[in-house]
Amino acid sequence: MAATGVSTAARRAPPKGLVPRLNGWLLHPVVKPLLWLLLAMPAGLLLWGAIQNQLGPNPTEALIRGLGDWTLRLLCVTLAITPLRQWTGLNSIVRWRRNLGVATFLYGTLHWLSYAWFDQNLDLQALLHDVAKRPFILVGTAAWLAMLPLALTSFNAAIKRLGGKRWQALHKTMYAIALGGLLHFFWLRAGKHNFAEVSVYAAVIFFLLGWRVWRWLRSRRPVTA
Ligand code: HEM
Repeated sequence: MAATGVSTAARRAPPKGLVPRLNGWLLHPVVKPLLWLLLAMPAGLLLWGAIQNQLGPNPTEALIRGLGDWTLRLLCVTLAITPLRQWTGLNSIVRWRRNLGVATFLYGTLHWLSYAWFDQNLDLQALLHDVAKRPFILVGTAAWLAMLPLALTSFNAAIKRLGGKRWQALHKTMYAIALGGLLHFFWLRAGKHNFAEVSVYAAVIFFLLGWRVWRWLRSRRPVTA
């Protein structure tokens, strides 16, 4: 028995309850590499499909669209981390938020690159002309450009330099980026009067942003005795 009165065995005992246990497991050093492996899989499968010529009759379109879909999906997952943490008590998943944000940016960059390279032959003039001509491309470009400062400040030294509060304020741009990505997708599908998929993303994004607005409004309510 230790001097404090707590036995060594009791001190070493794992936390009781499913949530504390899951929190402990999720902090295991192997989890982050596994997360990145998972995050790299959709891009890997799409690139492999392109190399093997298995992306259907229009591989360029399939590649651009596939990467665009994953950019929007990862945006939603990144925005879902804070509410999920609040509802479940799984505090350790907050450690994934920055990784998910960086992965979203990387997918957005691959999406942009595959469009610029395979669709526009890296012709800067053609690119600028397309951005000016097609509003959905303009909105997509604005959303991607807005992700740049977030990606550039996603490492520890930048957070230290900016200070936690300013870093958090800057990263609230993510809400506008999500709305921009949604508008980009909506505009693309509106031309074909196909709103099925867009409605699902809209429901998810409005719910995740609405939850934040609701919490913000609640926090401003005066506390009654
Ligand atoms: C946050 C940034 C962005 C997000 C979330 C996003 C998301 C998407 C989504 C979900 C699609 C539709 C995929 C489908 O039809 O299944 C798409 C298509 C597309 N996006 Fe983006 N995108 C972004 C930025 C950009 C940028 C910067 C460009 C180029 C400058 C771009 C160009 C395109 C093109 C060319 C298509 C396909 C159009 C077609 O097939 O006719 N996107 N994007």
